[in-house]
Amino acid sequence: MAGIDLEQFRLRRFVEHLIAMGEVDIHDRPVALADMSAIIEGSTNATLFKDAGPEHFEIVGAVGGSRRRHTLAFGTSDERNLAQEFGRRMANMQPVVDVPQADAPVQQVVMAGDDVDLTKLPFHMQHTYDGAPYLSSAIDYTLDPKTGRRNVGCRRLMLRGKTTMLSNLTQMSDLKRMFLECVERGEHLHLNFAVGAHPLDFLAACVRAPVEDEFVTVASVRGAPLPMTRGVSNGLPVPADAELVIEGYFDKAGYTEIEGPYGEFLGYYGPAHVDPIFHVTAITMRKDVLHQTVLHGAVKIARTDHAHQCAILTEARIRHVLGAARIDPIAVYAVPSASGLLHARVSVRREAPGQARAVISSLFAIPFLKHVYVLDEDVDVFSDEEVEWAMANRFRADRDLVTATGQRAFPMDVTMSNDSTTTKAGFDLTGPLTRTGVEAKTTHAPHFEGSAHYKSVEQALGARPMYFAELMASLGSKDGREIAMELDRLRGHGALARSKDGEWVLKT
Ligand SMILES: Cc1cc2nc3c(=O)[nH]c(=O)nc-3n(C[C@H](O)[C@H](O)[C@H](O)COP(=O)(O)O)c2cc1C
Repeated sequence: MAGIDLEQFRLRRFVEHLIAMGEVDIHDRPVALADMSAIIEGSTNATLFKDAGPEHFEIVGAVGGSRRRHTLAFGTSDERNLAQEFGRRMANMQPVVDVPQADAPVQQVVMAGDDVDLTKLPFHMQHTYDGAPYLSSAIDYTLDPKTGRRNVGCRRLMLRGKTTMLSNLTQMSDLKRMFLECVERGEHLHLNFAVGAHPLDFLAACVRAPVEDEFVTVASVRGAPLPMTRGVSNGLPVPADAELVIEGYFDKAGYTEIEGPYGEFLGYYGPAHVDPIFHVTAITMRKDVLHQTVLHGAVKIARTDHAHQCAILTEARIRHVLGAARIDPIAVYAVPSASGLLHARVSVRREAPGQARAVISSLFAIPFLKHVYVLDEDVDVFSDEEVEWAMANRFRADRDLVTATGQRAFPMDVTMSNDSTTTKAGFDLTGPLTRTGVEAKTTHAPHFEGSAHYKSVEQALGARPMYFAELMASLGSKDGREIAMELDRLRGHGALARSKDGEWVLKT
């Protein structure tokens, strides 16, 4: 197909890029499918298994499991402003283009009809108490049978039989709504899952804001046209450049069988519950398919793919909400170890009293965001060390804590009450506006840059009172001891004084 690059957003190409950037642990030796999750969870890097299971699969895990790898996925170098980059791309819509089946790499190998065999795919145990082996990295592409609207989401798949799987359609989603409508009409819901995708596709699949066409969302987040072809068994859309596709349908019988339990993305198990059966009608893949697994639940949540996807989307939402309240934040960070969803840190310029409270009350409106930390601009919101410092030195619980009870809880939040609500908290970690002078400043090592402005201490202090470091800088000193001696000489002549804040002053 002329004009469209079917390799550019291929998972394998991105993983090669990550390898070049030192972001991937490569395991050349044989590894059992059952051992992969512990290895993936044990590293802050992505993991590439070159020889997994008896079939010698090539499988990559945790591709999107860090902010840096998401930054590389966006093709930028600015880790802090991914939400702005995401916003720019969402505002610049990209098209969806048709690729003939013959040109679609994802259909180079086809298993259809009696050849369908899910046991030939690397479903594996991800968490100790999972109900069965899973494929966790499936992105569903669906046409709403009623309206034709194009929908994308991300779903886990539990191995059930040679041609059947279970997925989780518990929480409200567009896909669940479509499925319930199909069940009511007595119809199966046909759709296709892509397995093995670029991190930007996962990000796009998790956008919750209502958009008219979610295929366009995937294209826009990529910043390039999205190549789609037709499924071999159902003619429904599939991404032509995916690594692998599973085609089929959710059974019109509705919710019939237990799925789970499953290690959820807040770090606890989601319970076993009744879900629909998915019947597989075809599996297609690239000749040199790279399989993918997504690290889902873990105690070190910041190593999981979704923590960073959620963080970028939460940060985008926070910027949107603050923009509407006419608050221009210095920096915004949704903390990945709180699943990128529950904790946000925002730094703002020191302004009139009440600024931090305005941020907190605006952000309480964001569903599921539970704890909001507001900081001054001298604290780096991306640094756990600095935020912990601000908590210790700028926060007093009786004065700086704002709470709101009866708030809608995230469905998997184990702290929620029986009525599904929780309490939100805002932590005002900004410093008191009453503190002034040197006591309002935080301690940092001095930096001496630039050239000398004055020839002597006397001349420098003749211009204005100065802190010692200012004196050094204005005289171009890289030592300081000679200046202390010169101050001693001036003191001896009765020409030296100190300001209340400790600046050196020349008596006139
Ligand atoms: C790796 C991963 C797995 C997910 N698995 C599920 C799932 O099994 N069921 C579900 O309802 N949501 C799941 N989600 C969340 C949905 O994909 C997300 O809410 C999406 O926006 C739903 O799309 P939809 O409303 O267009 O159907 C998952 C997200 C990620 C990142």
